[in-house]
Amino acid sequence: MNCKIETWLECVSCGKKYDLSEVRYNCTCGGILDVKRDLTKLDGEELKRTWEERWSLKRGKLASGVWRYKELIIDVPEEDIVTRQEGSTRLYDAGLAGKYAGLKNFLLKHEGENPTGSFKDRGMTCGATAAKIYGAKVVACASTGNTSASMASYAAVSGMDSIIFIPEGKIAYGKLAQALAYGGKTLQIEGNFDDAMALVQEVCEKLNIYLLNSINPFRIEGQKAIGFEVLHQLDWQVPDWFVIPGGNLGNNSALSKGLQELYELGIINKIPRIAVIQAEGAAPLSHMWKKHTPFEAVKNPDTIATAIKIGNPVSWEKSLRGLKWCNGVVEDVTEQEIMDAKAMVDAAGIGAEPASCCSVAGAKKLVDMGVIHPEETVVGILTGNILKDPDAVIGYHQDTLGKMGIKGTYSNRPKVIKPTLEAVKAAL
Ligand code: F0G
Repeated sequence: MNCKIETWLECVSCGKKYDLSEVRYNCTCGGILDVKRDLTKLDGEELKRTWEERWSLKRGKLASGVWRYKELIIDVPEEDIVTRQEGSTRLYDAGLAGKYAGLKNFLLKHEGENPTGSFKDRGMTCGATAAKIYGAKVVACASTGNTSASMASYAAVSGMDSIIFIPEGKIAYGKLAQALAYGGKTLQIEGNFDDAMALVQEVCEKLNIYLLNSINPFRIEGQKAIGFEVLHQLDWQVPDWFVIPGGNLGNNSALSKGLQELYELGIINKIPRIAVIQAEGAAPLSHMWKKHTPFEAVKNPDTIATAIKIGNPVSWEKSLRGLKWCNGVVEDVTEQEIMDAKAMVDAAGIGAEPASCCSVAGAKKLVDMGVIHPEETVVGILTGNILKDPDAVIGYHQDTLGKMGIKGTYSNRPKVIKPTLEAVKAAL
């Protein structure tokens, strides 16, 4: 891989370095890897000018909201880039969801507005680019749904085959539909996401297939662009908080890594705090954080937010490192809190899938706890599109989620009526 400035892989645990000539996801010590570059070769002011110029590009690879920042993604020749012009997502005023959370300045970055409907596209454009450069013909991932939808799309765009390992039982319908439609070879395994994750790593190693889970350090590089773009949209004025859902814990790791690079380059002069929000039934990081105990996987993770139904997240070390750097916090929220927050995000006219709404549920909880101050500026990351999981929406609004202990607190029930004017009048 030819990068403009010196770039290498470095172990998060022991610091061992590897050059980019070989495919690697782990250190010989078992630790996971970071992409590192010589930041002293970059000038923050010049980067800001370059990125500002690219903001107005109408076409081409650098019009992507990831590759706009390519100096801090992977600075490879443009012809190698595999892109669907991802990113450039909106940053909304949270409206009703802001009132609900008790915040005056609450913004929602809608990553569900990416090409395949989730933030995964930001990591996937970078991962698929690396796959192409390494000459991969086949790529694979384990997924709770969004990664597989994204990977299948980027594989199709760039002429690679894709193999998807999904857990048995529920993955949201919209996501499964996408994976099949984009032509991903889909294997439903008897086990949960954590089992699928362990299996796909073995399969990739033994069968020489390129692994595109977020253990792949290039995925993390692409996802850093969420933070870059938010700050760019805020004219580099730093919010007090980012609030972000946590599952496999790649995305918050990417956010903190990217912010740290901006800080080291002097592009931002304040460190925002990050709050990672997990679902109560799948909250290993939150347990560890609150109880001050060593990391321990959750055996049978469960949550309606199927995207983050993960008990043994691969990136917990990176996540923890980032949280320490930014004086972050970890919290978990109940099923009811997730779905009520989702009802507010949806009723605000914005809409997002359940896991995404951990951001809003978590912000509300942290405001109620006095951790976030109502006057502080908070950016919540909405990670996936409302259409990904229609079952959760309909179940909530028809109030049929009782067996999961969830009430349709803010339900908007459809009514069945006779086809007459009288019936309409009565219904209204
Ligand atoms: N939100 C959504 C909508 C997701 O799909 C995921 C992860 C997350 C949040 C959590 O992000 O894993 O980086 O902490 N989905 C993965 C998948 C696991 O397979 O699609 P994370």
